[in-house]
Amino acid sequence: MKHNPIVGCMRWGIWGENFNSKQYETIIDQCLNIGLSTFDHADIYGHYTTEADFGEVLKNNSSLRTKIKIITKCGINMLTPNRPTHEIKSYDTSSKHIRKSVEQSLKNFNTDYLDTLLIHRPDLLMNPVEIAEIITDLKKEGKLKTFGVSNFTTSQVNLLKQYIPIEHHQVEISVTNISAFNDGILDQCILEKVEAQSWSPLGNGLFTEKTEQNLRILFTAEELSLKYNCSINEILLAFLYAHPACIVPVIGTTKFERIQQAKESMKIDLSRENFYKLLAASTGHDVA
Ligand SMILES: NC(=O)c1ccc[n+]([C@@H]2O[C@H](COP(=O)([O-])OP(=O)(O)OC[C@H]3O[C@@H](n4cnc5c(N)ncnc54)[C@H](OP(=O)(O)O)[C@@H]3O)[C@@H](O)[C@H]2O)c1
Repeated sequence: MKHNPIVGCMRWGIWGENFNSKQYETIIDQCLNIGLSTFDHADIYGHYTTEADFGEVLKNNSSLRTKIKIITKCGINMLTPNRPTHEIKSYDTSSKHIRKSVEQSLKNFNTDYLDTLLIHRPDLLMNPVEIAEIITDLKKEGKLKTFGVSNFTTSQVNLLKQYIPIEHHQVEISVTNISAFNDGILDQCILEKVEAQSWSPLGNGLFTEKTEQNLRILFTAEELSLKYNCSINEILLAFLYAHPACIVPVIGTTKFERIQQAKESMKIDLSRENFYKLLAASTGHDVA
């Protein structure tokens, strides 16, 4: 079964297009019109400013909240003038930090609940009991509906899930980064019924860095796009949709046309041979 792409907002603020409020409103509306209603954030996006930019739209349109789902993340302490007390980039999954970050996100979004909170990166000092307690409290208080992690190893997921259900795992997966196919993460998602979300689903740097691997992938994706009569982006996402873990791409474009392509990609059923053609373009060789 294929699930609608999640719309990533990392580049909507000052880390990218720097949309004004009207532009946020327009692109959110356009997404809703084609059935895309889940938006991915993190506390740190735009050096801690993008959540609030997005939240302005909710402030001015209270009925919008019921139509959308908000994912956000916490756990990274970023070095930025917007957080002058941070002396080094570090991770913090203490209950105090999670609570403070969630309360701030709620304020930023002008809402009283988050649909999903993800722990952004595995904190070497994380205490699973402490995380479980604070997540349970936040859920009981109605401030959080679902919980997940991002960029964890399978053993870190195994550890944490002994204490609190893990409902989502967001990791980098694309034709340029196929680790999750082999490191057990997607197997674990299937086994444990965890939603697998892929960030940078089009391939980190694919369009900007002219490496041999990227050129091979673009060449093959272009050939397939002619065969399937679609865009290259649709082929790259169809590669993820072919996997039985029901991977949900978290798309990062700032262009509505490319958001539409992502939605359209769900219609493509890439054949096994064509999946393996893209895999071979990624690795540089056929499978053994
Ligand atoms: N959990 C994590 O640790 C983590 C890490 C990174 C990101 N994320 C999430 O994942 C989302 C997606 O990440 P991403 O932005 O790296 O994903 P992506 O969708 O793979 O890449 C988007 C980038 O590719 C460009 N692009 C797309 N199609 C193109 C084309 N045909 N030609 C040239 N450029 C093209 C886009 O530019 P345009 O804007 O011009 O289309 C944009 O800069 C983020 O928004 C964020 O929500 C999560």
